[in-house]
Amino acid sequence: MYKAKITAVGYHVPDKVVTNKDLEKTLETSDDWIRTRTGIRERHYVTQGEATSDLAAAAACKLLEQRGITAEEIDCIIVATVTPDMFFPSTACVVQEKIGARNAWGFDLSGACAGFVYACATGSQFVHSGAYRKVLVVGADVMSSIINPRDRNTYVLFGDAAGAVLIEPADAGEEGIIDFLLRTDGSGGRYLNMPAGGSLRPATHETVEKEMHFVHQDGRAVFKYAVQRMAEISLEILKRNRVCASDVALYAPHQANMRIIDAALERMGLDPSRCVRNIEKYANTTAATIPIGLAEAYQENRIRKGELVLMASVGAGYTLGSLLFRWAF
Ligand SMILES: CC(C)(COP(=O)(O)OP(=O)(O)OC[C@H]1O[C@@H](n2cnc3c(N)ncnc32)[C@H](O)[C@@H]1OP(=O)(O)O)[C@@H](O)C(=O)NCCC(=O)NCCS
Repeated sequence: MYKAKITAVGYHVPDKVVTNKDLEKTLETSDDWIRTRTGIRERHYVTQGEATSDLAAAAACKLLEQRGITAEEIDCIIVATVTPDMFFPSTACVVQEKIGARNAWGFDLSGACAGFVYACATGSQFVHSGAYRKVLVVGADVMSSIINPRDRNTYVLFGDAAGAVLIEPADAGEEGIIDFLLRTDGSGGRYLNMPAGGSLRPATHETVEKEMHFVHQDGRAVFKYAVQRMAEISLEILKRNRVCASDVALYAPHQANMRIIDAALERMGLDPSRCVRNIEKYANTTAATIPIGLAEAYQENRIRKGELVLMASVGAGYTLGSLLFRWAF
């Protein structure tokens, strides 16, 4: 059995920036409303022809450069996404070709906002078992492809981005991924979903006319659930590993709403300066928020080798996950 560790991080956001002020021009909303209710100031969108795999491949290339390895050394690619380029082939297949990872196999993982935590846990097990030595885990979403530009309740909340980590075996005695906690609560599906386009309601003129190919959300219900559960899954994993919140050097929570993050910090008693925040710049980029947070924290020298990191997320499904690890590079 091998312990798994995260050995590199990378992220990519598309160039086009859309500010709250820009949204004021087409929606009955305001910069003030969006900022005070969510913490978001702006988000990045892809341009026509740019897809989830492009963002994922760009994030992966930055990671490979940082680690100093070629794509051919990658064994497995897991792409966490709810906005695949197509239903099939998987986005992982497209990324494999785009980056030239010709020795890798791969698959997509649908875990919504907790997708990246699910994917890291999954990837770590391939390394832990000894089956593979280099697993590329990507969280990537082009949320702008599934949000309704006429719905102010959802349109202001999301952005497009990708982030990636590399998972490899840890040397003897070296700390890596310590523990993960994964949950699903299927009763939450009715509060956040994309109703049509799948086998239940295949695309028809009617589903398009009824705008069923967009994100539908009961924001208040999701907020209430997430506010409580973010703190719970974060505290539970700390408790079962006998770790105090004050031992956590970096907390990387999913970025859905600044108020959800603040409430989690308060309930955990965690120093806010140890928390990653990027919602202001990127909005909710679904599977990408956590790896972007890790990559930016690394760039800003906010985390050092050996320090304890906690990631946590609650997403559509509901999906829930937290993962505790020591920074290994
Ligand atoms: C969506 C969210 C920001 C709304 O914030 P809120 O404080 O709960 O706001 P409410 O739902 O109480 O809505 C307040 C009012 O603002 C309105 N409103 C909604 N979006 C608006 C917008 N963009 N601009 C202006 N007003 C808006 C609503 O229509 C509502 O009006 P009403 O009272 O006349 O019906 C918040 O509920 C949230 O973040 N939910 C969780 C979302 C999430 O995390 N999703 C992803 C999970 S991974």
